[in-house]
This record gives sequence, structure tokens and C-alpha cells, in this order.
Amino acid sequence: MTGGTAGAVRQSMVIANWKMYKTAAEAEMFVERVKEEVKAVKEVEMVICPPFIALESLSRLMGDSNLLLGAQNMHWEKEGAYTGEISPLMLKESGVKYAIIGHSERRRYFGENDAIVAQKFSAALSFGLIPVLCVGENQQQRSAGETEKVVQEQLLTALKEVDENRDILGKMVLAYEPVWAIGSGTAAYPEDAASVATFIRSLLQERLGDLSQQVRILYGGSVKPENIRDFTSRENIDGALVGGSSLKETVFVQLVQAVR
Ligand code: PGA
Repeated sequence: MTGGTAGAVRQSMVIANWKMYKTAAEAEMFVERVKEEVKAVKEVEMVICPPFIALESLSRLMGDSNLLLGAQNMHWEKEGAYTGEISPLMLKESGVKYAIIGHSERRRYFGENDAIVAQKFSAALSFGLIPVLCVGENQQQRSAGETEKVVQEQLLTALKEVDENRDILGKMVLAYEPVWAIGSGTAAYPEDAASVATFIRSLLQERLGDLSQQVRILYGGSVKPENIRDFTSRENIDGALVGGSSLKETVFVQLVQAVR
């Protein structure tokens, strides 16, 4: 648990982003094993984001566990002629609670820009899904000293369309993921990540007031059991969004244990 200055207590969280890894059968095997191992964990919220095709079966398997389900992406419309897309309503029906929005791989390989991300962000909220909004600079922007500028633009554009008086905004999750740290094996320096997280909290404070103290801010990018505490022990970092290291049962359990 981490605390905010306005007295809000934020539950720590570990989100596993499996990307395009694991068949449905492999995903089921993971959950069968892991749910037993983490059943005593109460301090850390644990979210698994498998490929879409595994959502249904994992939802059933997770029913009697403390694991929660997230989606890696979603469309912003309820339904329509959008070949190959999945709607927030469909996710909701499949037992999904969280939706990752604006992951840098979506921005980079699938042309998602801040305007699309904003549409998805507000759609998630209107369908009662909790958005996990990803923001972060690439190497070039970092070298140019533009980290805060980029993060500010991404965050404020996503928040533009939403009504700041809605309590559900306090539930949203922000993931600071420097693009150069994702999948590279080189994580950010914890003090740098903490400083960006504090900057994000101050932007949220300006936009949302006291509600900002409830928002969880995660770090993501080459997180492993050996370094996760270096991030989550910082005042404004409430957990981690983990790709590669979340794929193996034993390593996922180590990540969660390290945060407790
Ligand atoms: P990584 O990915 O942990 O493999 O660096 C993080 C992410 O993409 O969210």
C-alpha cells in the first residue's frame, strides 16, 4: 500500500501484459498454477492481460481467485463494421475489469495517436472498464530532454474529453513506460521514473483535484523480480506493468511477493 498526501491509500498492483504470447491452453495452465500460489495475497492487486482469445476461459478460471482480468487493447465503439476489432461491451461481458490503452506498441505498429487513445480512454470509462493509460517518451525525445513535455501531452489529450467530476476517474491507472525501456532489458533509473511519476501526479492534481490521490501510477519497462522494489518503494509509484517477466509462473509470483 502506498499513501497520498490527501490521505488516500492506494493498493499496490502488478499488471501482467502478455502481449501476443500464450495460446488459450497455455494461459489456462498459467492461471491454474498461479492462483493457488497467490491465494493469500491481499496487499497487491494482480491483473492478467492475456490475448483476447483467452479472456473467456480465464474469466471462468479466475472466478474463485484473487486474480483479475485485463485486456491489452479495445475499440472505442460499442459495435460496428470494424473488422478484426473488439468492443468495450464485449470485454465487459467477458469479465474484463481493466483495459490497457495506448501501449507504445499500439502507437508504434498500429498507428494509434493521442486522439485515438483519447477516444479509447473515454470509451473505457463509459463502459465501466478501468483504463490503464500508457504514456512515455522514446529514446530520441529523451535525448532531447522532452520527457515531461511528451508525457504531459499524452496525458492531457487523453483526459480532454472526460468529465472530471466523475468518481470513476479516481480508479484509473497511469503507466509510465519509457519506450526505450520496454523489452530492452534496460530499465529506467528508479529515481528518474519516480520523478516522472511525481510530475504525472502533479498534472493529475491540477486536472482532477483530490481525486488524483487515488489514481495509481505504475512504472513499466524491463521490470524483473530483482528490480521491482526499486520502483514500487518510491512514493508515487504504486506498482508495475510487466511484459516479458510476467510470462513465467514462478517469476510472476516472485514479482508479486517482492511488492508485498
Ligand atoms: P517489458 O514490457 O516488461 O517486457 O519491458 C513492458 C510493457 O510492454 O508493458
